[in-house]
Amino acid sequence: MIFLSMLVIGISLVAALPTPVQKRTDCTFTSAASAIAGKKSCSSIVLEDIHVPAGETLDLSDLEPKTKVVFAGETSFGYKEWDGPLIRVSGSNIVVLGTTNHIINGGGERWWDGQGTNGGKTKPKFFYAHGLDNSLIAGLNVKNTPVQAFSIESNHLLLTHITIDDSDGDDLSAHNTDAFDVGDSTHVTIRKANVHNQDDCLAVNSGSDILFTGAYCSGGHGLSIGSVGGRSNNKVENVKIEKSTVVNSQNGIRIKTDYKQTGLVSGVTFSNIRLSNISDEGIVIEQDYENGSPTGTPTTGIPITDLTVEKISGSVQSDAAPVYILCGEGSCSDWTWEDVDLSGGQASDKCANVPNGIEC
Ligand SMILES: *[C@@H]1O[C@H](CO)[C@@H](O)[C@H](O)[C@H]1NC(C)=O
Repeated sequence: MIFLSMLVIGISLVAALPTPVQKRTDCTFTSAASAIAGKKSCSSIVLEDIHVPAGETLDLSDLEPKTKVVFAGETSFGYKEWDGPLIRVSGSNIVVLGTTNHIINGGGERWWDGQGTNGGKTKPKFFYAHGLDNSLIAGLNVKNTPVQAFSIESNHLLLTHITIDDSDGDDLSAHNTDAFDVGDSTHVTIRKANVHNQDDCLAVNSGSDILFTGAYCSGGHGLSIGSVGGRSNNKVENVKIEKSTVVNSQNGIRIKTDYKQTGLVSGVTFSNIRLSNISDEGIVIEQDYENGSPTGTPTTGIPITDLTVEKISGSVQSDAAPVYILCGEGSCSDWTWEDVDLSGGQASDKCANVPNGIEC
């Protein structure tokens, strides 16, 4: 009996010992399935000409810390109506890179129907960087996303030199192809993005300490905060959007907050931004959004405070407005407005509750 219990104790001691550390190696995968199956045992994952089957995610979530992921050749995806995402990466201290000539081709033209996320075909989201913390995404070449490209919900994430080319969608009815949607994130930096799309180049819905710098944005809806409101996190704090160019777009820079919702937009700076050929508004700040559209009636529950708009130059189209500001009473305050020099267009006659000293 004593022997038996000692044996049991012995076995449980062995079971309690740490399992030997598996040696992680450099791995090259040519199928999505093998990459997903092997992801935990590789310190470096090369994705070589991967074709992801229809309706499946290239699921690189929960990677071991310090894993490196490299996209090589052409990454492609099968066609199915579904929500996606086509790619998901999470973990900490992860590095995601692309080789010089790689392309990640969403094949969005198969879904584009002019309706984006408002109807028609169900379209997969492209890339979820959710829980991708203390990490880097650099040098990715992305083409033809079905709808929104990068969805970012992470802390301490740097995205640098990312190209998103949805220009085929100008003639093929792409819609809602946001480049970078940031929510619930802290310390996110997006540097030197090169975007041609059909919706926001940047949209920050919530989060703090976010820097967007050195971008070229073409064809879309401009650089946006919001719309803010109606989500679980409705605070945008400390966001700097700077040193960028926005061309051939509906708007240059904008802030949208939701009608009758609560939250906060504080400490946002737009600085050193060049606009050209803007069709709707160069600078637009409005507190009247509901279900993705303006109501025309601003409310005060999401104040916009400590805003800096400086060194904004360039031009808008002849029937556009250089500046449009629609605030609730007292809910836009403590604004700094300097060196705003936009030519073309006509002054808006719909501005309301504009802070002192700002021409609208
Ligand atoms: C101006 O922008 C519109 C889209 O609003 C585009 O169709 C047009 O080609 C652009 N013009 C130039 C000169 O680039």
